[in-house]
Amino acid sequence: ISLKPYNTFGIDVNAQYFVSINSIEELIDILKLEEFSNRLILGGGSNMLLTQNQDKLVIHINLKGKKVISEDKDFVTVKANAGENWHEFVQWCLKNDFGGLENLSLIPGNVGTAPIQNIGAYGVELKDSFVSCEALSIETHSIKSFDADDCQFGYRNSIFKQEAKGKYIITSVTFKLTKTKHKYKLNYGTIQAQLENYGISIPTIQDVSNAVIAIRESKLPNPKEIGNSGSFFKNPVISKSHYNNLVQNFKDIPSYPVSEDEVKVPAGWLIEKAGFKGKRFENYGVHKKQALVLVNYGNAKGADILNLSKLIQITIKRLFDISIETEVNIL
Ligand code: EPU
Repeated sequence: ISLKPYNTFGIDVNAQYFVSINSIEELIDILKLEEFSNRLILGGGSNMLLTQNQDKLVIHINLKGKKVISEDKDFVTVKANAGENWHEFVQWCLKNDFGGLENLSLIPGNVGTAPIQNIGAYGVELKDSFVSCEALSIETHSIKSFDADDCQFGYRNSIFKQEAKGKYIITSVTFKLTKTKHKYKLNYGTIQAQLENYGISIPTIQDVSNAVIAIRESKLPNPKEIGNSGSFFKNPVISKSHYNNLVQNFKDIPSYPVSEDEVKVPAGWLIEKAGFKGKRFENYGVHKKQALVLVNYGNAKGADILNLSKLIQITIKRLFDISIETEVNIL
């Protein structure tokens, strides 16, 4: 079958074997099939670039369901299954006035893949409201619970991209959210300005979500219209001395503090400075409004987009002596 509907980049490659699972029992049954031990686990397909037909067994995780599992006066603990669409889950939380995820509105993908790269936006990361996740061990077929420490969250990173990579399938995620005393994070980017635009001085969490949605829609292409996987690269962390050297030549280079002797530089800025922003090659290119996003204008080949990404990496290395790593998985 074509994987086009299953990846937000909209790349049309085929899977020789494909199964969509709706329960953990089904998943275990599938994992027992020894002849299909070569697997590709698919969630929302929002963080991958498919560059070839897949001869692996593609397992689409379609575990649905979300519920409150406990609450007290101030907090609520909510558990969502891996196949829930992330944004719909966030909106459900907001309808119930559960706070903590509003800055993460409109991020593509599913709940179950969110911890893998510790999704983050507008000053908030998944880890800030994460309690635990359950994951099925591919080897033993038993469920293991990972708390926040176990997950070793970092910037776009977790144990599921390191030691635990390829060993577990996340089946559910549990969050601790606020019922009262919501913790507003409005100081990142233009959220505050957007709210002022709306004439809102005391926002609700739904207002914050609406502001985030408006900002994202103004910069990021809607994957339903233009195929993409959000940020294609991670923002690189460089030493302060390296940064100080760069400032000599590039006076306006932005940076965010990371530690005593390191800073993070927006890859979007580097790519724009290198002249790639809005560059279009036939049916693929670099997004007009956000240089960190590579786009498929229709029928592009994953391999073409991969080559473009390599050209960008080489150019950034040559111009700034910075290696930028891909954020999306290349398959
Ligand atoms: N910039 C440019 N040109 C561009 C894009 C960015 O110069 O074309 C510079 C500007 O200086 C801007 C700065 O980069 O002020 C930061 O840009 P932006 O706020 O758009 O954020 P980002 O660092 O490019 C990160 C995340 C996004 C997330 C935003 C908002 C990564 C890899 N990306 O992007 O996440 O939405 O912050 O918090 O950390 C994603 O991971 O898929 C994603 C979209």
